Amino acid sequence: MRVLGIESSCDETGIAIYDTEQGLLAHALYSQVELHAEYGGVVPELASRDHIRKALPLIEQVLSEAKLQRQDIDAVAYTAGPGLVGALLVGAAIGRSLAWALAIPALAINHMEGHLLSPLLEDNPPAFPFVSLLVSGGHTLLVDVQGVGQYTLLGESIDDAVGEAFDKTAKMLGLSYPGGPILAALAEQGTAGKYDFPRPMTNRPGLDFSFSGLKTFTMNTWLNSEQTDQDRADIALAFQTAAVETLAIKCKRALKQTGHRILVVAGGVSANTALRERLNAMIGIETHYPRQAFCSDNGAMIAFAGAMRQDAMTITAASPTFSARPRWPIDELSPP
Ligand code: KG4
Ligand code: ZN
Repeated sequence: MRVLGIESSCDETGIAIYDTEQGLLAHALYSQVELHAEYGGVVPELASRDHIRKALPLIEQVLSEAKLQRQDIDAVAYTAGPGLVGALLVGAAIGRSLAWALAIPALAINHMEGHLLSPLLEDNPPAFPFVSLLVSGGHTLLVDVQGVGQYTLLGESIDDAVGEAFDKTAKMLGLSYPGGPILAALAEQGTAGKYDFPRPMTNRPGLDFSFSGLKTFTMNTWLNSEQTDQDRADIALAFQTAAVETLAIKCKRALKQTGHRILVVAGGVSANTALRERLNAMIGIETHYPRQAFCSDNGAMIAFAGAMRQDAMTITAASPTFSARPRWPIDELSPP
């Protein structure tokens, strides 16, 4: 079965084709970063309009790279939430229309499930059950994963997502958008041990996170410093170290609580090298990540999640009605 995946939940148009026998056949991504850069963040209406411009050419591109015709596609999977409603509706409208025209099934995919399953696209995929740490611009989730669609939420951020905290902190330090990867690069020039920032909510039990206090602490430290380039790098490193350490402490706790020995990390922040190094150093734990290109939003994870749910596909006929869910908690999903 060949599944066309369409991702358009935020500022990336991602298209891919996954074959249940041959694996990933082609994928393409268009990032809107430049479009939003001058505003310092994603402008939802501009995002929707750009998805409209890019989705169809990217579908053509991916089909031609895979040397396929439209008729060779057996099903369409599109991101139906969570995300920006206008942006989601573009992918949903294109996905449903295409499926309806080709008389093939269409399946609404949860974006966070896409991230969660993305490490399974790699060689030596993790075996169920495992603990999943999902770290993106909109979410920080710890999930007990028993199988596809069998998700128990263990903990989440009660305020800013960790990616959001990276982005806001970067902005405050005068770095450009999107700040996460830029802050991480700057942290490499920081002096280790110059500052020691708090690890929020680690000294009490539980698996929830809070990153807004760390963000404010970072801002106050910056404002009270001489604001030299070295101060900026030192503070970036202190922020990143505290964020990474907080995530690591909660992962360790989640693994202990569930008894699982496998930790799977995904979402934009899973690209962070310091985070990977810290988690890889946990003794007796097997760690898995997506390849760098699939940490951030992409079509491959949506095509793959669709393929994992192909049973649901066969019963979901491409009806002309569709909807998008700006909020869609991952633990509302059920097995295919
Ligand atoms: O998964 P993603 O592309 O989009 C959402 O679903 O939100 O995640 C984007 C987030 C942004 O906040 C971005 O700054 C962050 O991931 N990010 C990073 C790194 N690369 C991307 N944060 C820290 N270090 C990185 N290397
Ligand atoms: Zn995402």
